Amino acid sequence: MNDPVNTAPNGASTPAWRQRWRRVKGPVLSAVAGLALIWGGLPSLPAAWGVRFGMPYLMFFSLAVVGSALFFVLLNWGPIRHPRSALATFASIVLVYSATVGGMVAFGYWYYPQFETPRATAAKTGATGSGAEKRGKDVFLNPQFNCFACHTIETLGIRGGQRGPDLSAAGKEAEARKPGLSAEDYLRESLLDPWACFTPLPASGLTQCQAVADPAKTYPQLMPPGLKERMTEGQLNDLVAFLRNLRGARGER
Ligand code: HEC
Repeated sequence: MNDPVNTAPNGASTPAWRQRWRRVKGPVLSAVAGLALIWGGLPSLPAAWGVRFGMPYLMFFSLAVVGSALFFVLLNWGPIRHPRSALATFASIVLVYSATVGGMVAFGYWYYPQFETPRATAAKTGATGSGAEKRGKDVFLNPQFNCFACHTIETLGIRGGQRGPDLSAAGKEAEARKPGLSAEDYLRESLLDPWACFTPLPASGLTQCQAVADPAKTYPQLMPPGLKERMTEGQLNDLVAFLRNLRGARGER
């Protein structure tokens, strides 16, 4: 095949870099546009839509965009020889498929503990504090209640879902959520009557909970109702003790 790098149509030689740039321009510009959309567009979606993408999602999407752009850059740059036989074509498709899908699955397993069995997570992150707190953490990680499907506790390395607030400082924040209500009572109310008062979004700058759900300022209604029936009084007390001691800064707990 004719390599156009050094032979321009008029016979004069065009700088190689310009030729190369022309070949990889498409994927590079698409990746830049994709990244702009991910980091500029997604975080500014209207809060009323109730869709929020946390840092891990943005990272994941970015990796996917950069990864696929790199793939096409490599393909167009030249070093990859095109397969000659049907078998080689099939093998390269399988290889690319397992590398990309495998990479994504590996990222998911590494990043999101909810894909693991919660027991392994509990052992890995190690519980500290009083007996009640330790038991409360087990309740939190219990798949029966599924708290980590929606809540992350970044300070404890519990990287769960992002639909609810990060509970890293839930105990401290509970002190100011509802004037006249103790932190313990607020936490208890959040669990037993979750829609009584809504957690403000961090970006709203509010610290108190909001009696009326305002989608621009609060999280959507997702806390599962009916925990009272599904949890024993002991489990509830342990869970409140665990949450009460989440004070934010790493290691402070
Ligand atoms: C389906 C998703 C979902 C599940 C499952 C879930 N939560 Fe929530 N949680 C939310 C959302 C969304 C909010 C914020 C809206 C609100 O205040 O009701 C919230 C709020 C909270 C709050 C109040 C935080 C604050 O600072 O005001 C606490 C505490 C809490 N959840 C603990 C738990 C615990 C413990 C469990 C498991 C028993 C759990 N959540 C299960 C979605 C969920």
